[in-house]
Amino acid sequence: MINLLIMGKPGAGKGTQSKKLLKHYQLEHISTGNIYRDEIKKGSEIGIEAKKYLDQGNLVPDKMTNDIVWEILSKKDYPNGFMLDGYPRTRAQAEALDEMLCRLEISLTSVINVDVEDEILLRRMAGRRVCPSCGHTYHTDYHPPKLEGICDHCGHELIQRPDDLEESVMNRLAIYNEKTKPLLDYYDEKNLLVVIDGEQSTNKVFHDIISKLGEK
Ligand code: AP5
Repeated sequence: MINLLIMGKPGAGKGTQSKKLLKHYQLEHISTGNIYRDEIKKGSEIGIEAKKYLDQGNLVPDKMTNDIVWEILSKKDYPNGFMLDGYPRTRAQAEALDEMLCRLEISLTSVINVDVEDEILLRRMAGRRVCPSCGHTYHTDYHPPKLEGICDHCGHELIQRPDDLEESVMNRLAIYNEKTKPLLDYYDEKNLLVVIDGEQSTNKVFHDIISKLGEK
């Protein structure tokens, strides 16, 4: 069983790499960002509450996020392991996750940090386009769809995420630096951290991750 956690600033490529890693290792994807976006799309109670935070680039309260993750982890429906993406993001969430793993008698295999400078992230988020129907992600310059503005996979019109607008992006980066960045030391002290240069091509980033995980 491989239990991974992928970290990185907003737009570092966590979602992009998760997709490749899930396929490679046959893991269950637990992306709190995707969960919230799905709930918003459904108009559920959780979605209505979460939207207030996501659109501004703020973090959803810890309790709500921890409860969602526990509901998924406690089902133990991940025969080959799981990939946590975008969780934990605060010290309180990291401690809650430790407790959950302890109760389930499982542990993290590695924590991957996809490292990218802010200037590059801003370009990535400004050009990111997503399919609201099937969830595929594109970039206007680095990974454009075959037909401009249209999803290659399902033909739906692509959109820009509301939290990819400049003001929200700056807020997300500030929150990352204050609340999430300290978790890198938290996991380094536990000897779990693997740092990857995220400024390379998506395939090179993927191969570096696979190779570093193989060394552990
Ligand atoms: P979440 O969805 O987790 O957003 P994020 O961390 O801000 O990360 P992103 O999805 O923006 O980026 P990414 O790293 O996945 O990059 P991607 O692969 O798309 O969370 C959203 C919100 O939900 C949060 O702000 C918060 O409100 C809430 N939330 C979620 N989890 C929470 C939690 N635990 N607690 C509280 N609140 C929570 O790539 C970005 C772009 O770059 C794409 O266009 C892609 O094509 C391109 N790209 C990727 N890699 C490369 C490369 N190597 N070269 C060139 N282009 C690349």
